[in-house]
Amino acid sequence: MVRLTALLRDPLKLKQAVAPAITSWWKDVPLGPPDVILGIYEAHKVDPNPNKVDLTVGAYRCENGKPYVLKTVLQAEQNIVDKQLDKEYNDIGSEYFREVTYRLAVGEELCDRPHVSVQSISGSGSIKIAAEVIKRLYKGNQLVFIPNPSWVYHAPMFELSGVNTAFYRYYDERSHYIDHSGLMTDLTYMPDNSIVLFQMVGHNPTASDPSPEQWREMSRILKNKNVLVFFDMAYQGFGSGCTETDAYAVRHFIKEGHKVVFAQSYSKNLGMYSVRVGAATFMVDGKDDGQPILDQMKHLAMCSYGQPPIHGSQVVEEIFRDKNLQKSWHEELHMMVDRIKKMRELLTMKLKAIGSSHDWSHIMKQQGMFFFSGLSVEQCEKLINDHSIYVVKNGRMAIPGINEKNVDYVAQCLHQVTK
Ligand SMILES: Cc1ncc(COP(=O)(O)O)c(C=O)c1O
Repeated sequence: MVRLTALLRDPLKLKQAVAPAITSWWKDVPLGPPDVILGIYEAHKVDPNPNKVDLTVGAYRCENGKPYVLKTVLQAEQNIVDKQLDKEYNDIGSEYFREVTYRLAVGEELCDRPHVSVQSISGSGSIKIAAEVIKRLYKGNQLVFIPNPSWVYHAPMFELSGVNTAFYRYYDERSHYIDHSGLMTDLTYMPDNSIVLFQMVGHNPTASDPSPEQWREMSRILKNKNVLVFFDMAYQGFGSGCTETDAYAVRHFIKEGHKVVFAQSYSKNLGMYSVRVGAATFMVDGKDDGQPILDQMKHLAMCSYGQPPIHGSQVVEEIFRDKNLQKSWHEELHMMVDRIKKMRELLTMKLKAIGSSHDWSHIMKQQGMFFFSGLSVEQCEKLINDHSIYVVKNGRMAIPGINEKNVDYVAQCLHQVTK
């Protein structure tokens, strides 16, 4: 690194090193891209209509419309307080945290496969750190193929890391489900050495997940292309209610010998949205392969946010160390997913009962946190402006915002805007 004294001795270098005269440091900074979801959520908060319904944010709500803190998490937190655990720096996450989190993804059968992982800042931070490593280390074609549509931050996360993105076909607007032939065709023509991103379960925003048979077909198509398969596993457990069932895709791809990277999150399945705990994992060929990747992830973490927060990982550790807490976690996860399924059924029934002739069959066909309604921007705006039902304008609705008290109103309004 150059020293100031050296620069002062060389006026030409000094001139090149610093900016020309600046009158205002920040005046040319453009506005950042608007956050389409949070903006609508904020508008909901200030709406005085007593009938308002928030279906924007992808977070679980109880029957009373309030956020839900898992009793399992509260108990684990109590244990942490009782044990007076320390709050030392957390490095890349404890070995135990990383091990149980890895096992949650791959199951017992694959737990000995060589891999490296770091605890990171929930799903988002884990995707970002993996994207940064890919940018630096991956020698193949640095183009990540992303489903169309996908979570709004997937593309910018990779692009901001300097990795280009392109879409592959995923969703069919007519059937409101997977575009089987488009998806398989695009995977077939995907160039060798590409990177492909899959959402493992609870696809955001389409709520449409491939069946095990479709995952197997996708794996077969990609088998000899030497692709890097990147799984975003943010909703593990939120599809079926079972973390094992929901992990089918990542386990199948690993068994089939694909190069796999995955990002995990405890935001949704443990309801620890703002606790920010998750992990990024690279499956590698052998232990020697892994060390540079691990070093890079650690360095990138140190140069961006330092070390990951310890509170969430202690909660996770407490749960995995205690069979009763594990059991209660899985029960609560089931309870959340069951309520979502019940609301899908109830909404479908109510729409039928009030005589809607619109095709609503996709409410039941889709799964996970969302209902991707297929409503147009205009219809969504009517829901928001005329009825105070807050939805994302691409038609995505978070089912947990529906409950037995507001389901009639939601059904009536959906009927109104689709007549
Ligand atoms: C598909 C998908 N991936 C990742 C995330 C990241 O969530 P978090 O950073 O809270 O784990 C989200 C959040 O909504 C998501 O929908």
